[in-house]
This record gives sequence, C-alpha cells and structure tokens, in this order.
Amino acid sequence: MSKAFTIFGGTGDLTFRKLLPALYNGSVSGAESMDYQIVIIGRRDYTTEQYCELARDWVKKFARLPYSDSAFTRFAARIDYYRMDFSDPAAYAGLNQYFTDRGIDEFIFYLAVAPRFFGLIAESLAGVRGASRGKVILEKPFGETLEAAKELNRRLETIFSPEQIYRIDHYLGKEMVRNIETIRFSNPIFTNLWDARFIESVQISALEDVGVESRGGYYDEAGAMKDMVQNHLFQILSIVAMERPSDYIGSDMHSEQLKVLRALRPVGRDPIEDTLVLGQYDGYRTEKLVDPHSQTDTYAAMRLFIDNDRWRGAPFYIRTGKKLGEREMNVVVTFRRPRPDVAHNVLVIRIQPTEGVYLQFNIQKPGDTTEITQAKMDFCQSCSLENRINTPEAYERLIGACIRGEHFWFSQWDQIETGWEYVAQLRQAYEKAGLPLRNYTGGSYGPSEADDLLARFGHSWFNSP
Ligand code: BG6
Repeated sequence: MSKAFTIFGGTGDLTFRKLLPALYNGSVSGAESMDYQIVIIGRRDYTTEQYCELARDWVKKFARLPYSDSAFTRFAARIDYYRMDFSDPAAYAGLNQYFTDRGIDEFIFYLAVAPRFFGLIAESLAGVRGASRGKVILEKPFGETLEAAKELNRRLETIFSPEQIYRIDHYLGKEMVRNIETIRFSNPIFTNLWDARFIESVQISALEDVGVESRGGYYDEAGAMKDMVQNHLFQILSIVAMERPSDYIGSDMHSEQLKVLRALRPVGRDPIEDTLVLGQYDGYRTEKLVDPHSQTDTYAAMRLFIDNDRWRGAPFYIRTGKKLGEREMNVVVTFRRPRPDVAHNVLVIRIQPTEGVYLQFNIQKPGDTTEITQAKMDFCQSCSLENRINTPEAYERLIGACIRGEHFWFSQWDQIETGWEYVAQLRQAYEKAGLPLRNYTGGSYGPSEADDLLARFGHSWFNSP
C-alpha cells in the first residue's frame, strides 16, 4: 500500500470514539479509505497488536456496522502503531524513514491533537518526503483565540496550500444537515415561502444530555459559544438562511453561507440582554479538570437577526447546552399565521437522535364541526433499522470527502473567522453589561432566563412533540 492515513493523537478520545469506528465502517462497506494504510501515532508504549486489542473494544462499541472478528482482523491488518513524540521536531526524521521503507508516497494527516501542536506538526512534516503534497485534516478548535488561530493558519500555510487543508466540522457530515438544502430548494412549498414575509421565526437547537465527561480541560477553555455556536450552529444557520447557490453543492455554497454570517446584525445594535443568555449547570465547577471558580458557559441561547432582504424582521433563535433534559438537535421553522385564531404551520427538520421531518398544519376537526385542529405529519427517516444501517456517519462521509478532494464538505477559513469574531463580540458585550452566568439544574431545559428571552417577544422554545 503506498497510501497512508496517519493519525496524530492516535490514543485520544476522538480517535477511539469516532475515527477508528469510521475507518472500520469504511473497511466493511468497501469505502475509498480501504486503500490506505492506517498509521497511528502516539507517545504511549504499545505494540501494534496491543493497540489493535484496545481498538477492538471501541470499534465493538461505536461502529455503525456490525462487528465481526473476521472483519476486524481484515481492518486491523491495515493498522500500524508508530510510537513517537510528535512535539519533538527531531523525531520526524524517523517518521520519514518509516514512510520511505514502506514506499508510502501519498499522505493524509489527521491532526486529532490540541491546536497548539498544529503549527509544530505541520512545520516538522516538511522533513517528511512527499508530505507537503499530502492533505491535512484539522479538528476544531482551530486555535484557542482568534489571534492564535490566525497565527496557526499562517504557519500551516507555509507548508500546505489552502486546498490541502481540510477543517472538519462534523455537523456538515450529518445526514439531515446535508438534507436542508434539498428540503429547501427541491420543494416549491418551502422554496417559495422561505423568507421573513412568510416565516415568523427560526429556531436551531442542539441540546445534549451529557455533561463535559472526560473533556473538562478542553471545555473549560472553550465553553458552549466556542464549542458549538461558532462552528456547528453557525454552519446550520447559514445553510438555512443562504440564497440558492448556483452550483448547489460546491464552492459557491461557501460564499452564500459567508454572506449570511456577514449579514448578522452587528452586536450592540440591540440590547445584549435581548440577544444573549449564558448559563452554567449546577455541579459543573466540580467536574474533573474544571476550574472551581469557572465562568465558562455550558449553555447559550441567542436571538439573532440577519439584516438582508430575505430575513429582515424574522428572529433566529439559537440554543445549545450540556446536561439538559434530553439529547435533541433540530431546526424549527415557524410560519406566520393567516389569522390569530389558528395555529402556526411548523416545519421541523430533525437532525438527531432521530432523522426526519415533521410538519404541522391546520385541518378541520373530523365530524360535524367547524373547529380547527392541527395535523402532525412526522416522517422518520432513521426509524427503520434498514435505513439506519445504510446511512454513513458524519466522520465516515468526511473522510471519504477528503480522499475525493471535496472541499465543500469542510469549513472554510473565512467562515470560521467571521463566526469567531461575532461570537467574541457577543461574549464581550455580555461581560461588559455585567450580565451573570445563569445557573440551571442538570436534566432541565436550561436557565429560565432563556425562556423569558423568547417570551418577551411573544415566542417560546419548541420542544419536540
Ligand atoms: C463536538 C463538541 O464538536 O460536538 C462536543 O466539541 C459535543 O462538546 C459534540 O458534545 C456533539 O456532537 P454530536 O455529533 O454528538 O451532536
């Protein structure tokens, strides 16, 4: 095999939970990643056999496709564990030799490590023959601050051109996130009503029932705004709100998405208390690796506006948080009512845990009456076992997309920069106004102030029927 898929951070959580299961699925389903040797780079003292035994348990637990010993043996035959300290530039001469001995000349490098190592790894890879022609996949966060991210970007681009850099936003690989464009642009019943004249508000929710688990160290530096809003939720917001791209999926989509982010109403135009609520769950400060006086947000709710012709006047409500009553991610589009005595038409795009579309509309109650009731049509795409098995997971899709060079599945730097700046300004305005972090109990729907925020404008959060 002359191609290598090399993972830096091969003993980390992401590799075990997401990357190895995705590569295993690819191996079972015969995806393009099958042609790659999998080189795992880690500091720990494992043999390849020991590493594969560890990997086996994670694959059993997290792979989408059924586990079997024979399939795992075929998969594991492509794995090689290479022990090295990737933060030591001198160690790369050995890596170069390793690749040369195996005749490897085509590379994908996956940097599943903290962003402070990105620059150093990229620069050190300059000493590996052929590496600078390869591709590099980066995991968020792309830096601890916007300034740090810009500096990293500069260092990366001394080795790799922008076309060789793939920044993962795994939400872009989710089945129903990709589907938003089709739902919007292939159905005249939605396409023709998709603006503020007909839509009263849009909600995007990403609720998680788990806390920070073993990632307290990372999360305490990031918080909900940087961990979820600035990347995943802004990606979704901009797909929901963008103009139709001329090439449907492709580079044009990015420029349309970017225009949406740039049209977000500047921070400061509306009072910050009508724009943002930040919260923290009770008990967060005693989580492992979290500062006991932490001011990190584990919940964020927002009321944003896109000041362009399509959306002027329709609020976009966004919320995300950890340790909430349930795990649910959806986009809720509420249409304007023809009269105050009838309910709103509501379209819900369900992203997870189930995938599907829910539509609520008005109908006359059955029987001899003129009373109106709501019909609720619920299409669940992932409810049948057959569909679930056939749907590749986000990381599988994105690894395949990188191999095929499909850049449009990844975040672009200018989107990241724009999202980052906006989120930083919101956070600063919140602090400047002296607004506190609102406490909430684990298992709830977040702080009551987030409900009050919408209630002040005659709205409420949509909780799944
Ligand atoms: C990650 C965040 O990007 O997305 C995590 O860092 C979060 O904090 C995760 O839990 C959620 O992903 P998913 O696919 O489970 O919705």
